[in-house]
Amino acid sequence: MEMNIALLPGDGIGPEVVDQAVKVVNAVAKKFGHTITFEKALTGAAAIDAVGLPYPDETHEVCLRSDAVLFGAIGDPKYDNDPSAKVRPEQGLLLMRKKLGLFANVRPTFTFPSLIDKSPLKRDRIEGTDLVFLRELTGGIYFGEPRGRSEQGDRAFDTCVYNVFEIERLARMGFEFARKRRKLLTCVDKANVLATSRLWRETVQRLAPEYPDVKVEYEFVDAVAMRLIQWPKSYDVLITENLFGDILTDEASVISGSMGLMPSASLGSDIKLFEPIHGSYPQAAGKNIANPLATVLSASMMFEYAFDLQEEANLISEVVNRSIEEGIVTEDLAGDGKAYKTSEVGDWLAEQIAK
Ligand SMILES: NC(=O)c1ccc[n+]([C@@H]2O[C@H](COP(=O)([O-])OP(=O)(O)OC[C@H]3O[C@@H](n4cnc5c(N)ncnc54)[C@H](O)[C@@H]3O)[C@@H](O)[C@H]2O)c1
Repeated sequence: MEMNIALLPGDGIGPEVVDQAVKVVNAVAKKFGHTITFEKALTGAAAIDAVGLPYPDETHEVCLRSDAVLFGAIGDPKYDNDPSAKVRPEQGLLLMRKKLGLFANVRPTFTFPSLIDKSPLKRDRIEGTDLVFLRELTGGIYFGEPRGRSEQGDRAFDTCVYNVFEIERLARMGFEFARKRRKLLTCVDKANVLATSRLWRETVQRLAPEYPDVKVEYEFVDAVAMRLIQWPKSYDVLITENLFGDILTDEASVISGSMGLMPSASLGSDIKLFEPIHGSYPQAAGKNIANPLATVLSASMMFEYAFDLQEEANLISEVVNRSIEEGIVTEDLAGDGKAYKTSEVGDWLAEQIAK
């Protein structure tokens, strides 16, 4: 198969972890006889520094002519520490999702057998966890207008808005995911307080009879925050709005063992985007210590979701599992064992694939 992949490494550790995913993707392509062309483009602070915008038109063009996008992370302390900055790296991420029509972020959460005892959570609670979040990505409080500060600067406001069509398309995707899995869908909301949440609940309730084989649960976000770490095995597919999903999926990363392990896929249009859930981890930038596995697993999701190549996807997941079992891991997972460099982990994975 011929594949054109847009590479958006971004900021901080983004370029280092994306480099490792490229090694792995190239090794898979060689093994299975695919031809892959990568085209690199700027996003985030790197793009602001170069051309003054966090998601320049040239980058959007590169994405539009690709079959899939592999993204690292964006964010830079010089913007995080300057709340008055008018142009911000995160705006690039939001604009990219909006312009590419990526309304659903799929975030699987599972455990790695060899990491279970390193988790701060007890083995019997987390062993066998296999759940997936579908986070709405282009609506809600991250996009709603009006937003801003009062003239005196002593009041700030954001607006949370959802339209039925935005909820419906995400919910339908959730029902379809549930159908292919254990047939349990949890709608996460705050319907006891928020009008937008009541619209979510109403919409999901209206759709539910069309999917009689799927059991639907409705749960408030605060309760989910608790049950997620107490009984993660009780969930299958969770659908939720943008802000709740952002927070809960970071919480869920503790179940897997590290932020450096969690991949994601952003879906909604012909061009799909794959990215680790972590940020640009600026403290580690340029040190060759960041865990590349979340980005490598995102590449695995790319083979599955963008190209329907399950065998290739499985092979990547298998070698990632093996690297963890054999201790070929970066410092976040090394414990008392040897901590490998980011690039060493990437080299090892590519070599294993080539075997
Ligand atoms: N999708 C994105 O690009 C995205 C997501 C979240 C945050 N951000 C941005 O990233 C910057 C840093 O934000 P943050 O510190 O809140 O989140 P972060 O995810 O960058 O880092 C939080 C912590 O998670 C751990 N971690 C993250 N990635 C890791 C990896 N690959 N290997 C090992 N450990 C890892 C580290 O302990 C780190 O201190 C900010 O500018 C923020 O806006 C971007």
